[in-house]
Amino acid sequence: MTTTLGTTEHVLGTTHGEEPDWTPGQWDAWRDEVHALARARDAVILAHNYQPAAIQDVAHHVGDSLALSRAAAAATESTIVFAGVHFMAETAKILSPDKTVLIPDAAAGCSLADAITAEALRAWKAEHPGALVVAYVNTTAEVKAESDICCTSSNAVEVVESLPVDIEVLFLPDQFLGAHVQRVTGRDNIRVWLGECHVHAAISPTHLRDSVAADPDAELFVHPECGCSTSALWMASTGQVPAERTHILSTGGMLDEARRTTAERVLVATEVGMLHQLRQANTRTVFEAVNPRAACPYMKMSTPSKLLRSLREGVDEVHVDPAIAARARRAVERMVAIGTPSAAGE
Ligand code: 13P
Ligand code: SF4
Repeated sequence: MTTTLGTTEHVLGTTHGEEPDWTPGQWDAWRDEVHALARARDAVILAHNYQPAAIQDVAHHVGDSLALSRAAAAATESTIVFAGVHFMAETAKILSPDKTVLIPDAAAGCSLADAITAEALRAWKAEHPGALVVAYVNTTAEVKAESDICCTSSNAVEVVESLPVDIEVLFLPDQFLGAHVQRVTGRDNIRVWLGECHVHAAISPTHLRDSVAADPDAELFVHPECGCSTSALWMASTGQVPAERTHILSTGGMLDEARRTTAERVLVATEVGMLHQLRQANTRTVFEAVNPRAACPYMKMSTPSKLLRSLREGVDEVHVDPAIAARARRAVERMVAIGTPSAAGE
């Protein structure tokens, strides 16, 4: 599937990315070399829940955007290798400007972060003087520098609830997460930017309805960035799925819920890399993707050989202009301080 946002064409990837056809012995040698190089470089490896399974398994910490930002801020090592996408590595650099931050492939972008530029945000702010800007962490450093506070999907509601109720909020750039925040807070003074993540937008109401019809007793885990998140709540409110079995959750929240659930089957609406963590966290429950083609091609750009190259050669180093980083830091540090820590795996 191909969607077009702004000037960049974004396509869905393959489920596992470029997974090499190695023997068990070659995989062991790769893991040993990654860990030896990380020790020699005094590096910690952070991996997002959407990374290829092998990268998740070799990383020192695996988690959602908020847990990884906190891990980056707390890291004692002099180098952070961020196996994720560019805005995540940039956020780590903003929080830890004195550390070296590496990413296996600097071209790993994000369709959602591409949905708004700093220039467009300045124009939007000029139309709403006095409004507070809440930027999802999936934004560039320049956009964060123009924002009052950042949030992730796991603390977006708490971030907005921390702001005075009588001040208008500009929420960006994800329209589905914005609609979720409007619904939960009940505030009528939140304006939402009409951006979307092409991977989550491709998990449609039709995918959800078909999955539920085929598996009516399953629980539902739905990421709030999904195109089907509104449908999931509507189906719950009209009794098509029981409300107590429908959970709108960040990826970290899904993991916490996976550890608690006693359901036999769970339908999961998010990027398919998440299934690896869920299946490891709970081996009694069957976790199935609502759209098995929902793979983020940017997340799958971290391949085993690129991670090795990153550690061997000290590439690709992520830089953020110090003046922009200083302005963005206020917004990111406010985000890190709000919300319950969700577990980051080891
Ligand atoms: P979380 O891990 O914060 O739920 O974010 C999802 C996402 O799309 C990151 O790119
Ligand atoms: Fe960006 Fe979507 Fe990929 Fe997350 S899944 S990195 S929001 S394109």
